[in-house]
Amino acid sequence: MKLLVIGSGGREHAIAKKLLASPEVTAVYAAPGNAGMVLDGIETVAIHINQHAELIEFAQSNDITFTFVGPDDALAAGIVDDFEAAGLSVFGPTKRAAELEWSKDFAKQIMNQYDVPTAGHKTFSEFSQAATYIASKGAPIVIKADGLALGKGVVVAETVAQALDFTRDVLENNKFGKSRVIVEEFLDGEEFSLFAFVKNDKYYMMPTAQDHKRAYDHDKGPNTGGMGAYSPVPHLPQSVVDTAVETIIKPVVNGMIAEGRPYTGILYAGLILTADGPKVIEFNARFGDPETQVILPRLTSDFAVNMRDLLADKTPDFTWVNGGVTLGVVVASEGYPGDYIKGVKIPEKTTGNITTYYAGVMADATGQLVTNGGRVYLLETSADTVSDAQAILYKHLKAQDTTGLFYRNDIGDKANV
Ligand code: AMP
Ligand code: GLY
Repeated sequence: MKLLVIGSGGREHAIAKKLLASPEVTAVYAAPGNAGMVLDGIETVAIHINQHAELIEFAQSNDITFTFVGPDDALAAGIVDDFEAAGLSVFGPTKRAAELEWSKDFAKQIMNQYDVPTAGHKTFSEFSQAATYIASKGAPIVIKADGLALGKGVVVAETVAQALDFTRDVLENNKFGKSRVIVEEFLDGEEFSLFAFVKNDKYYMMPTAQDHKRAYDHDKGPNTGGMGAYSPVPHLPQSVVDTAVETIIKPVVNGMIAEGRPYTGILYAGLILTADGPKVIEFNARFGDPETQVILPRLTSDFAVNMRDLLADKTPDFTWVNGGVTLGVVVASEGYPGDYIKGVKIPEKTTGNITTYYAGVMADATGQLVTNGGRVYLLETSADTVSDAQAILYKHLKAQDTTGLFYRNDIGDKANV
């Protein structure tokens, strides 16, 4: 098989690397990919994710068995619809199914309709009405701009004033290019992520994971795409996972069919374990980054064969490592998620029991890998316990020259309490 992965981040590096590990796979292409992936034998293709016609032509002329779509913006732009219209096999939701991610308002409608537990909410397009509602509810309160805002469209406001400022920015100052806000009840509890491979009415759960969204240690600083993760979440009882599957994954998968928008792709539920059980804070229509880099290394079955079977409506035999834990620490450009410089030299690729997944990197004129984005690379390892994995990764990170870069020193600490 020859396979194509759409995207260029650490998530796509992990997907492509795992696909390439299959004895049945002769080549994995990543479009556009990144220069770090090449070190693992992945072939990069210089086509942008929004050039659907060029991507389709590439898949056809290279006999691609199936294409795996990584990023949400490609899905929201209807890349799956276009590939399917061209008769190509592709893994990801159609634009209408991916609306679960690209419209938070649509996601809320589905959850209400199918009794999926989530935070209470109301949608507004008028500032004055939103302001009255926010004042009546008080803080803490959560405000979300409706639509894709690449992680910047949410504020967990600790005061009413902060909530009003953000709401004004969305509705009156047009800072996000969105015309609606969702005002949401603040959910108190531990956050975790649940991922499923979905093909219409069939779903196959993956191990749980926990992301670290804030930029700095002890969950301080701005929200980022994710600064590190581990899988599974050892202190999460199986009963909670089972409840989440029954009350969240199953009704959404069936609900999407009932709505005439059958879902194929990764279904990613961002959850908070409240005193009343797990509740949804958001759905994503794709794999998480950096969660993928800690989940996929735990897959022991042939990923490419699993995906081919799933797409052909055969039952895929996914198998996973049973014990231990996999940890990943993101190394980012100093300044991320704000402004940062590019072109900073980055350390050598790791070998042995530590894997490097590359994201915001490029090769300079001499072939040296340098920074080219906010999140630059992630180091991943597996061990018996979270603290063992932390010891391995942090020892290695301290020995690397990370001038101009930074990372969190506490990835996985929540699992150690
Ligand atoms: P989202 O973009 O919806 O994932 O929100 C970004 C982050 O804000 C989440 O990862 C949570 O940490 C936090 N968050 C979002 N919604 C809520 C909520 N209703 N209650 C508490 N925290 C939330
Ligand atoms: N790690 C969070 C995300 O992929 O959205």
